[in-house]
Amino acid sequence: MRRLGYSDLPNVISIERRSFPTPWSLAMFVLELSKPSGICLGAMRGGELAGYVICSRYDQVWHLMNVAVSPDHRTRGVAGALLRRLFEEGRSQLPFTLEVRVSNHRAIGMYEHFGFRSAGVRPRYYHDNGEDALIMWLD
Ligand SMILES: CC(C)(COP(=O)(O)OP(=O)(O)OC[C@H]1O[C@@H](n2cnc3c(N)ncnc32)[C@H](O)[C@@H]1OP(=O)(O)O)[C@@H](O)C(=O)NCCC(=O)NCCS
Repeated sequence: MRRLGYSDLPNVISIERRSFPTPWSLAMFVLELSKPSGICLGAMRGGELAGYVICSRYDQVWHLMNVAVSPDHRTRGVAGALLRRLFEEGRSQLPFTLEVRVSNHRAIGMYEHFGFRSAGVRPRYYHDNGEDALIMWLD
């Protein structure tokens, strides 16, 4: 487990494109990595990048922006390890929040496993298919 660097971005983009219907652009990752207050972590397995988490601090809240694991490495605890390290590093008593597609049951189950609770819906938040976002908080 380590901080992500710019040299990881080709591997990040490769995982991102295999993980999301509307993947983030390279520019979005560069912007997040450039924020001094953010926490961007990568998990290595067998010498390669297996997954990453991107978290930004907005005033008094951590916003979990992105988490993805390579399809080759899923269901083996990689995301769990990333989230545990994130919660350690962001241990300043600030709450975490995130948005997740209402259809992404696997991710919602994972977040609930880590104590996140639903706090409403943002209607038609995702422009690609008009899907609602579930808003979740971990205090
Ligand atoms: C969602 C995703 C990141 C999960 O990654 P993963 O490495 O397969 O997840 P893990 O195997 O580490 O499981 C995560 C944790 O949640 C738990 N968990 C997973 N699904 C669960 C469920 N339905 N109910 C309860 N707990 C669940 C696991 O037990 C594990 O916890 P543990 O480490 O304490 O055992 C991965 O499937 C992915 O990249 N999906 C595509 C991108 C995506 O949807 N990202 C989230 C967008 S908001």
